[in-house]
Amino acid sequence: MNVLHVCANPKPTEESVSKQLASAFFGKLIELKPEVELVNVDLYDEKPPFYSYELYKRVWNPVFDESYEPSKVEEMAMNYAAKQAEAFNEADVLVLTMPMWNFSVPAIMKAWMDQILSPGLTFSISKEDGVKGLHKIKSVVLLVASGGVYKEDDDRDALTRQVRHSFDFIGIDDIEIVWAEGQSPLFFTNQEENKAMAIEAAAEIAEDIAEIDLTPAEVAAD
Ligand SMILES: Cc1cc2nc3c(=O)[nH]c(=O)nc-3n(C[C@H](O)[C@H](O)[C@H](O)COP(=O)(O)O)c2cc1C
Repeated sequence: MNVLHVCANPKPTEESVSKQLASAFFGKLIELKPEVELVNVDLYDEKPPFYSYELYKRVWNPVFDESYEPSKVEEMAMNYAAKQAEAFNEADVLVLTMPMWNFSVPAIMKAWMDQILSPGLTFSISKEDGVKGLHKIKSVVLLVASGGVYKEDDDRDALTRQVRHSFDFIGIDDIEIVWAEGQSPLFFTNQEENKAMAIEAAAEIAEDIAEIDLTPAEVAAD
């Protein structure tokens, strides 16, 4: 099983609740499946560039114009996205670790998503065939911490919606969310309890992920 872990949190693990969820998740997953091939991308070490006009042309022009030939600059503008997309397309499971910042994903995570969610890299798109994934990811695990508490379908939560819909768009509809809510000591007194519950949930989700059947659909149908 290949797992790609993308982390958007500049804090050390001992100060970061979301990173502690990741420790619990991977501790359990590796205990159950020591053969897991794990690729870690720390976005604060491998910073994604912001989306550029050159990248836009390099990835979207081929969708509309078969005769398009990229310039050298346009080709180079795709370097980060192409390298990240390669790791993405080799993964069976994607794990995203992040805090909630301003009700959404940290900007560095959004920048990474803008890079890799590009046609020709992780999905194909056409009028005839619609959108088709070029990856084999079966499940996304989202490990998140927030200061506040958000009920289901809370309008303020732009984070889980954004992650869910972005990956659903390219054919990944299984998303497991572990959310350590109420982490602000200014507004809550039970943050330790919430954290402990989320850490437990992270280990439980790892048990489910360890059980995923990776047989390709066409082989399973034989
Ligand atoms: C820049 C910034 C913005 C934040 N915005 C929100 C927010 O919109 N909603 C919320 O519930 N918590 C917000 N928080 C609180 C964090 O989500 C919370 O501290 C969480 O535990 C951070 O995760 P971490 O411990 O893994 O870093 C914000 C914190 C920072 C630093």
